[in-house]
Amino acid sequence: MKGPDTTSRAVLAESAYSDERHLAARQSLYGWQRPRHDLPGIVLDHLPVEVGVVLDVGCGNGKYVTRIRAQRPDLTVIGMDISAGILTGVGPPVAVADAAALPAADDCAAAVLAMHMLYHVTDLNAALSEVARVLKPGGVVIASTNARDDKRELDDLWGSAAADVLGTDHRPLRISLSSGFSLDDAPDLLRTYFADVRVVELPGVITVTEPEPVIAHLASYRAWADSVGVPFDVTLDRARQRLHELIERDGAFHIHCRGGILLCTAR
Ligand SMILES: C[S@@+](CC[C@H](N)C(=O)[O-])C[C@H]1O[C@@H](n2cnc3c(N)ncnc32)[C@H](O)[C@@H]1O
Repeated sequence: MKGPDTTSRAVLAESAYSDERHLAARQSLYGWQRPRHDLPGIVLDHLPVEVGVVLDVGCGNGKYVTRIRAQRPDLTVIGMDISAGILTGVGPPVAVADAAALPAADDCAAAVLAMHMLYHVTDLNAALSEVARVLKPGGVVIASTNARDDKRELDDLWGSAAADVLGTDHRPLRISLSSGFSLDDAPDLLRTYFADVRVVELPGVITVTEPEPVIAHLASYRAWADSVGVPFDVTLDRARQRLHELIERDGAFHIHCRGGILLCTAR
């Protein structure tokens, strides 16, 4: 069964990421994850040692841009995103750009980041060709995404809440952003364009003792509310109620996370 299309540029730029609100709600759920993984720290560990340009494609609210600029002032970090709105909080240099048509010269970047964004790209081959084109010989590509079974407890929660709302056994799918470029498929895709592809798996468990952080996460998919096949806000309310009951019964709700970072080099 296929979920909603999460690659529409209009929806991404004008709704899902028109500002950082929804992204920040999703990012904040990881505050309850153990172990905590310092993704910008891992990226910093794998950046080239020499001075150069780093392009952060799909930089969002600048989590990586800000940290790299602070810790590696010798590098020029350019944030790029399809949404002009989300770039307003990221300091210059930034550019509104589509991953499939990067406004950058051939062989200009010592590193290209594509963190939790390739699953939003309509034409993955076009985007990966662009990353390969702008990357210097010896340059590095760092990408990230989640596995297909990431946060599977949220699939159950959303599915059962939606089935309750619809009054049927049919369980509409939760929106899963990463399915178009999952950690399961990403290494082979990346090997078509880059060398030395390595996966750093970052498993963890989120534990909450109140529903709100989880409901805020589910609510962050509001941009795709029209295509989930069930009234969105009513389903959120039902999920909140179910979560409350589960936490009352078990003392906590656990969510298994399977994210990862992919490290590659130019061919
Ligand atoms: C899930 S957010 C990730 C943000 C950031 N990289 C991070 O990991 O915190 C995805 C970002 O990719 C951007 N995006 C989606 N499709 C894009 C495309 N084709 N080209 C450039 N940016 C895109 C979105 O606007 C959004 O800011």
